Amino acid sequence: MFRSLRFRLPALFLAGIALALLIASAVALRLFQDYARQQSVRELQREAAGLTELFGQQIATEAQPYAPRALEKTTGDRIYYSGLPLFPGENSGFRQLPLNIVDVNALPAGRGTVFEFTPADDDRRYLAVARPFEENNVRFGVFAVAKPRAELQAQWVTLLQRLAFGIVGGLLVAAGLAFYLSRRISGPMRQLAGAADQIAEGRYEVDIPDVPSGDEIGHLADRFREMAARLAEADERERSFLMSVSHELRTPLTAIRGHVDALREGVVEDPELRSASLDVIALEADRLSRLVGDILDLAKLDAHRFTLLQEEVDMQALCERAYTAFSEEARRRAIDYRRDVEAHPVIVTDGDRVLQIISNLLQNAFRWTPDGGRIGLSLEHANGNVRVAVDDTGPGITQDERERIFRPFVSQDGAGGTGLGLAIARELAAALGGRIDLESEPGRGSRFLLVLPS
Ligand SMILES: Nc1ncnc2c1ncn2[C@@H]1O[C@H](COP(=O)(O)OP(=O)(O)O)[C@@H](O)[C@H]1O
Ligand SMILES: [Mg+2]
Repeated sequence: MFRSLRFRLPALFLAGIALALLIASAVALRLFQDYARQQSVRELQREAAGLTELFGQQIATEAQPYAPRALEKTTGDRIYYSGLPLFPGENSGFRQLPLNIVDVNALPAGRGTVFEFTPADDDRRYLAVARPFEENNVRFGVFAVAKPRAELQAQWVTLLQRLAFGIVGGLLVAAGLAFYLSRRISGPMRQLAGAADQIAEGRYEVDIPDVPSGDEIGHLADRFREMAARLAEADERERSFLMSVSHELRTPLTAIRGHVDALREGVVEDPELRSASLDVIALEADRLSRLVGDILDLAKLDAHRFTLLQEEVDMQALCERAYTAFSEEARRRAIDYRRDVEAHPVIVTDGDRVLQIISNLLQNAFRWTPDGGRIGLSLEHANGNVRVAVDDTGPGITQDERERIFRPFVSQDGAGGTGLGLAIARELAAALGGRIDLESEPGRGSRFLLVLPS
């Protein structure tokens, strides 16, 4: 539970806020301490200045002197005096400043000096301001006004209490917020984690939470849904691929088996029929071996375990070779077979594989073009691409079929087609860094275009 996001997220959030509050409080307290001390010093300075003025007037007017204790009562601070007697016989009311603390003669005239001390009759520490008392340029002595530092501290304590109150309040609000946030974040996260668990177990039909917000979690949920759909699709494809493979392998095997059984049981007496049976067996065995080779190719391409050569390939010569391989069939079937291979690009690629792709396209064109039709092979080199086009006047391919025919085992060819030719051609082209495009007008013909980088 302590390792879950639901706990860690708000805990981290709260810890951060608590730390920020504590630092802010410490700074505030420190500032307030300085401020309170400054205020007190200023007040004490004013009082000390007032005292010197007051007693100056008294001496000048020889009035009845103030009793220091009565003054202390009105200000609330202690009043000290050290020096020459101010009035004959009337000096005793003052508290005496301990002489080891303030040197009466050394203090600068006309202003207060701040100091701290602990008087003999009290064990508290006092903050004090001393100010020399002079009349007619004669230094009589020093007045000092003092207040216990504890009084300042009392002020901080109330501040501290308020700060503590604020911190607790702030933390409560933050805790509420953190709880809300963590529920908002970790709720969908937990659902996503649950969905991921299900997918890991191979169950793709999971319910992925719909997070409406446009934030990262919403994005994650969307992508996750897409990923699950793709995985399901890939899984389905793999299943249907395996089904098709076993079906395709079984078809020639069944034919071979049927003929072999018939031959073994001596059902076929006629030597001519027997040789026909043997022909079928040989044909189907060929088909089987081709099929196995193709499936292996496709599987390797799919797993990227295909080794491709990197050699300089003269594309003109290669096209010429592919072209010539079919010229005899074209002549026999009265097909108008042309080539346009004026371009002369030399590219670094795997020649055998390129030949395999082009031959495959030509083979399809010859398979689907009726006798007397037209087939063309052309080579172009432009914009950093080499383009080999195979045109035919076959039945063409409808829009719906254009993507489908590139899938494994999709074939209209009842006699010997495996439906792997275009699938392999497309995978090969991709492995060579290129692609196969298809343009077609149903009823008029097709054009398969192999595009390779040069
Ligand atoms: N030039 C073409 N004209 C019309 N249809 C074609 C052409 N090439 C391929 N096709 C269609 O695509 C299908 C798949 O082709 P392919 O992958 O080579 O397998 P196969 O040749 O074994 O049928 C063919 O069965 C055919 O229906
Ligand atoms: Mg084919």
